[in-house]
Amino acid sequence: MPRAVARAEHLDPTAFTPGFCYRRGELCCERVNLESLVSRAGTPLYVYSSASLTSAYRRFDAAFDGIPHSLCYAVKASSNLSILRLFARLGSWFDIVSGGELYRVRRAGVPGGHIVFSGVGKTREEIREALRARILMFNVESEAELELLAEEAAKVGRPAPAGLRVNPDVAAGGHPHIATGHHTHKFGVDQAEALRLYAAYRRSPWIRWDGVSAHIGSQILSVAPFRRAVARMASLAKSLIRAGIPLRYFDFGGGLGVRYTDEQPADLVEYAQAITRAVSPLGCRLLLEPGRALSASAGILLTRVLHTKSNRERRFVIVDAAMNDFLRPAMYAARHPLTAVVRRTGMRRRPVDIAGPVCETGDVFARDFPLEDVQSGDLLALWGAGAYGFVAASNYNSRPRPAEVLVEGNRFRVIRRRETRHDLIRGEL
Ligand code: LLP
Repeated sequence: MPRAVARAEHLDPTAFTPGFCYRRGELCCERVNLESLVSRAGTPLYVYSSASLTSAYRRFDAAFDGIPHSLCYAVKASSNLSILRLFARLGSWFDIVSGGELYRVRRAGVPGGHIVFSGVGKTREEIREALRARILMFNVESEAELELLAEEAAKVGRPAPAGLRVNPDVAAGGHPHIATGHHTHKFGVDQAEALRLYAAYRRSPWIRWDGVSAHIGSQILSVAPFRRAVARMASLAKSLIRAGIPLRYFDFGGGLGVRYTDEQPADLVEYAQAITRAVSPLGCRLLLEPGRALSASAGILLTRVLHTKSNRERRFVIVDAAMNDFLRPAMYAARHPLTAVVRRTGMRRRPVDIAGPVCETGDVFARDFPLEDVQSGDLLALWGAGAYGFVAASNYNSRPRPAEVLVEGNRFRVIRRRETRHDLIRGEL
């Protein structure tokens, strides 16, 4: 493909984003016009397409048709109760990493048996709550955690269903901050240590070995690291089964990358085949924990242009959303396209820096981005905001967090009201 085409394409993310399209120059989510939605719900505003969430889930699920499996949506990617309920209705199970996420999935009506609990630092209280909820499996990340789990299981008088999170020692992940599967990272235990711990706790009355797990990183764009990691994990699982440890679940985590601008993500079917081939001979149920792949492109962040200004040769578009509302560009130098929600005829593109009002130099959504010629009052869409978006929002600079809206066909529902000034000081003395 000629370069110019590839470059121009990401300026219209509707080309690769189901659920959103321009109609007569005006951006719509499904059949809802976004300019008119904002006149009712305000900005900054997260908008999610239920059709897009649904189709992403179904596509991912269908890719694993060849093996008994369950998708455990990674709650951390977007944890609004309405989104959790939507996935639950589609048959999803859930991967949680905190007591707070346990609370959310339970409030969304998810049965304990559909929950796996990952995370490198579970507290005693969190473990106790999860045991009481009779979750499917704890993905245990250290010997110390295993001891704690056994202690708490003894108190409730039921063995804890557990698997070790094993670090398969592969290098992968879009950004150093989101790679997890190398031996230098804090996650999991190495393979030799895993064998020792499985053996040591084999006859424990309070640990029931049900599985193994791994999660090698996030925004991974090629199948190769998954293939390497799944081979290592499968051979470990085989040794365990041979040693008489009956594993029911093989949890291979999440991590499949998506297209935000000009990335070329791994092919879903190829990814699924690589995993299915390695896991099928084990006879375990495959668990996957996709987050981003199910929700990133189903959400956008709408923001209003406050001012435009120039400092010498640099042009700035200052918008009413900021790094506290959407952290990825500041935190990972992530690139997300922005487009005008209403495209007037004859709009030219000029490279601008699109920045928020927070008092940090890093509060910039895009640098030198060829944005349409916008003016104060215009509405912009920031794309690919459906995963690791609202969930990472904060009140930095005493800014209330945005509202969230879920669109379904020609209807929309505010699924989280905008925070108020009162919310900002709630709990303070
Ligand atoms: N399972 C575990 C144990 C995880 O730690 C994660 C993500 C997932 C599943 C889901 O991974 P996904 O399919 O979404 O790649 N805030 C960062 C991403 C951090 C990912 C943390 N763990 C970002 O905005 O890129």
